[in-house]
Amino acid sequence: MVVMVIGGGGREHAIIKKLKENQDIEKIYALPGNGGIAADAECVAVGATDLDGIVKFAVDNAIDYAVVAPDDPLVMGCVDRLEEKGIPCFGPRANAAIIEGSKVFSKNLMKKYGIPTAAYEVFDDAEKALAYLDTAPIPTVIKADGLALGKGVIIADTREKAKAAVISIMQDKQFGKSGDQIVIEEFLEGPEVSVLSFTDGEVVVPMISSMDHKRAGDGDTGLNTGGMGTVAPNPYYTAAVAEECMNNIFLPTIKAMKAEGRPFKGCLYFGLMITKDGVKVIEYNCRFGDPETQVVLPLLKSDLFTIMRAVTDGRLSETPVEFEDKNAACVIMASEGYPVKYEKGYEITIPAEISDKVFVAGAALKDGKLVTSGGRVLGVTAIADSLKDAIDASYEMVNEIHFDNAYWRHDIGKRAMEAE
Ligand code: AMP
Ligand code: GLY
Repeated sequence: MVVMVIGGGGREHAIIKKLKENQDIEKIYALPGNGGIAADAECVAVGATDLDGIVKFAVDNAIDYAVVAPDDPLVMGCVDRLEEKGIPCFGPRANAAIIEGSKVFSKNLMKKYGIPTAAYEVFDDAEKALAYLDTAPIPTVIKADGLALGKGVIIADTREKAKAAVISIMQDKQFGKSGDQIVIEEFLEGPEVSVLSFTDGEVVVPMISSMDHKRAGDGDTGLNTGGMGTVAPNPYYTAAVAEECMNNIFLPTIKAMKAEGRPFKGCLYFGLMITKDGVKVIEYNCRFGDPETQVVLPLLKSDLFTIMRAVTDGRLSETPVEFEDKNAACVIMASEGYPVKYEKGYEITIPAEISDKVFVAGAALKDGKLVTSGGRVLGVTAIADSLKDAIDASYEMVNEIHFDNAYWRHDIGKRAMEAE
């Protein structure tokens, strides 16, 4: 079979490496892929949001199956477009991807179906939002309705900062139309857990839990990033928490989407917070997380392609999904200055013996050499019997990889170890 993966980051590299374990797959194309993915798939210069280009490539090249990994093409209806041409896909249609594409939609869904989440108000008028902030409890959380490259959530610890966020999102249109509406919600506290799940719209199968590290600096300081490292499993996700999540969040969400006529097929990502009043949903994503995927998929024992096709065909209930009873840690090596401003074009050297543990996110090929081309450059994943050993092994590999201006956090997994 000929498979096409849409996207070009570390997450897509992890998906492609796992798909390659399936003997039925003869060829994998990545659109657009990147300089590191090129070692595992044929990269094609078609952007992940160029839906016309993607559909044309799929038809011209007799693609048998497509995996649409990033949020933008999913929300834009990439799966709908490919299905119209008879190409089966892994990923939700646009009417289900809205669970990530619109925070107003997801908050209203949770309210309607009694799924625990932070209390909130929706505004489509900046003046009303500003007036509300005169008396709202502080800290408060301001969220742009639509996709905003992971920057649409502002946690404000003063009224002034909250109001400045409203003005920048709704009046200055920092995120364009994504800021036509906003959600202002209650600030919650507690450890966070990411749970990716497979769902075919009927059943939901959670994958092994994980913990992201979103802030740029050690000790959770500095700006929010796409994620600076992950560990799996997440020690806060105990058997009791897992059961609570299944009963109060996972199953009710799948049923709610079905009842709304928006069955969700693909990977549904639950961003959760364990508060003193129980587990609450912080956000839904309509896709695999990045860099959660770089610790979750290496621990998957079952065949990924078999599971993906079962999701597409509505046969997930008959398909085994098993994980290794081990720990994984992924440290992200970034360009110094990320997420604000950074230089690119530096040569990367990775010892051959560890290259299968490295997921390439932001690198290009230049004269046959791998060079940095993005903020997050590499994800380095180790698997071990204990969390500590996985973290140590990951940092050992990081120390063997070189490029100028490399930056990484030194405390990935520290909080998880304290929790253990
Ligand atoms: P998101 O971009 O939706 O992933 O949100 C980014 C981060 O903001 C989350 O991972 C949380 O750490 C934080 N966050 C979002 N909503 C809340 C909330 N209601 N209370 C506290 N923190 C939040
Ligand atoms: N790592 C968080 C995300 O993928 O949204």
